[in-house]
Amino acid sequence: MAVSGLFLLGFVVAHLAGNLCIFGGQDLLNSYAQHLEDLEPLLWVARVVLLMLVVLHITTAVQLTLENRKARPVPYHKKENAQTTYAARTMAMSGVIVLAYIVYHLLHFTFKVTHPAISHGIDPHGHRDVYAMVVLSFRDPRVALFYVFAMALLSLHLSHGFKSLFQSLGFNNEKLEPKLAAAARALALLIFIGYSSIPLSVLLGFVKPAGGL
Ligand code: HEM
Repeated sequence: MAVSGLFLLGFVVAHLAGNLCIFGGQDLLNSYAQHLEDLEPLLWVARVVLLMLVVLHITTAVQLTLENRKARPVPYHKKENAQTTYAARTMAMSGVIVLAYIVYHLLHFTFKVTHPAISHGIDPHGHRDVYAMVVLSFRDPRVALFYVFAMALLSLHLSHGFKSLFQSLGFNNEKLEPKLAAAARALALLIFIGYSSIPLSVLLGFVKPAGGL
């Protein structure tokens, strides 16, 4: 679980770095997307590995949950949650919502099913106009706010995930725990701010379509 989570986290950080190119304008984002596409055979290897990691992450999560239930078949009469956090208690819920978000996200930007009218543009350099697709999508407040909501849940999921990751890798003891927990929260918050800044900047008019309207 920890190892698949670590690699998925690597993707989340790399994808964020790529998406932040939007603040550099249409040419930068579109040429970044074009560079990725030019790596074609390698890109497919990365996609297959990513999919396998997601499947592994979900199956180990289900296995762990079932093992925990088997270890305690009779529910607690009164459940005390003193040693846990909201993020830890809601991992399954936030995980399922993040998964639902990823399915929507792929239909949106990769398969271009949800917004076909704005998803097939070509920019003046002949590149796919990913910039226009993203900016025009986030001008709809429902789409932009849904993304911010999903990023908040992703961040909640990651804040506990990071903490568990340190624990699984053995970097945990009583002295270190509060520091690692704070580092985990800070990293998750940075990822939330980075991703949410994109839909919010479009919605607030800081990032505009290339024509400037
Ligand atoms: C504001 C937030 C986000 C934006 C603007 C964004 C943007 C995009 C765009 C434009 C694409 C299509 C790229 C292309 O066709 O060249 C894409 C693909 C993708 N995104 Fe995101 N993304 C965001 C958040 C996320 C998050 C949080 C995840 C995962 C947790 C994610 C996972 C993916 C995946 C798996 C793909 C498919 C990659 C591929 O086909 O190679 N995205 N995203």
